[in-house]
Amino acid sequence: MTLKSRHLLGLENLTRAEIEYFLDTAGSLKEISSRDIKKVPTLRGKTVINLFFEASTRTRTSFEIAAKRLSADTINISASTSSVTKGETLIDTAKNIEAMRPDLVVIRHPASGAPELLSRWVDLPIINAGDGTHEHPTQGLLDLFTVREKRGKIDGLTLAIIGDITHSRVARSDIYGFQKMGARVRVCGPPTLIPPGIESLGVQKFHRLEPALEGADVVMVLRIQLERQGTPPFPTLREYSKLFGINLERLRRLKPDTLIMHPGPINRGVEISPEAAYGSHSVILDQVENGVAVRMAVLYLLSGRSVDA
Ligand code: CP
Repeated sequence: MTLKSRHLLGLENLTRAEIEYFLDTAGSLKEISSRDIKKVPTLRGKTVINLFFEASTRTRTSFEIAAKRLSADTINISASTSSVTKGETLIDTAKNIEAMRPDLVVIRHPASGAPELLSRWVDLPIINAGDGTHEHPTQGLLDLFTVREKRGKIDGLTLAIIGDITHSRVARSDIYGFQKMGARVRVCGPPTLIPPGIESLGVQKFHRLEPALEGADVVMVLRIQLERQGTPPFPTLREYSKLFGINLERLRRLKPDTLIMHPGPINRGVEISPEAAYGSHSVILDQVENGVAVRMAVLYLLSGRSVDA
C-alpha cells in the first residue's frame, strides 16, 4: 500500500487503511527493541532533524531512539538554543535546515498549524510531533497501537477521554483515530474544559465522571494544561481532582479489563493518583514503550519508500 501524503500532519486526514498500515508496520518493527543489538540498517545514510519549539521528554526521546534504531543520523534542535532566540522566523529556520539536505523533519511547535505551514515551504517530509492544541498524530497512533495490542481490536470499544479536552492535541488525534478505527468516543470534563460544539466530531459529551466511565473499555486521562491557559478554568486543583481525578476508588467501579492510559506528563494526585497510574489497569508505560515502535514506523514509511507524492 502507499500513503496519500509524504507528511504526517494529523490523523484527521488519514484513512482507516493508512492508520492500519502505520500500526502494522510498527508491529513488525517492535521486536527490534528487544534484541541484544537494537539496530537495523534500514535508514542508514538518512538524516532526521528533531526541531522542538516546546519541551518534551517522551516524544523527542522516542523519535531520537527510533531514528537511531533504524541507523539514521539524528540532529536535535531546541528553540531555546537556536537562532530563534535572535529573532529568526520558523520559515527562515526551516529553509536553512533544508539547505543542509536532511531527509525528514520532526517538529513540535506551540502554534497550531506550524507543521502544515512548514510542509508548504520546504521540500521535505514533515512529521507533526504536536502543534498547539491541534493534533499529536504519533501519540494518537501509539495509543491505538497499545489498545490493539492489549485488547486485540479497536472496533466496538468505548474510549472515555477525561479532562482538559479544550487544550489537548492528544484528545483531537485520539478522537479522529479511534473513531476511524471503529470505537465510540466519549469526552468528559468541566464545561470550561470542553469546547462548544465538540459533539460535531461525533463524540458523546459528559460533565460528570461516573456516567462517562460506565462500561468504558479504555480511559484516557489528560493533564490540565495550565501553561496554555490564562486563569485556571476551575476553582482549585483539589476540587478538580475530587470531581474528575482517577483514583483507586474509581478504579474499583471499572470493568476488570478496562485500560487506563495517559499520554504524559502526569500531574500526580491531580488528574490521576500514583496508585492508579501504576496499578493493574494501567498501560501508561506500555504507551511509552510502543511510542518507539510507532515512531520507527512513521520514519520508515515517510522516508521515501512507500509514498505516492
Ligand atoms: N506525550 C507527550 O507528548 O509527552 P512529551 O511532552 O514528554 O513529549
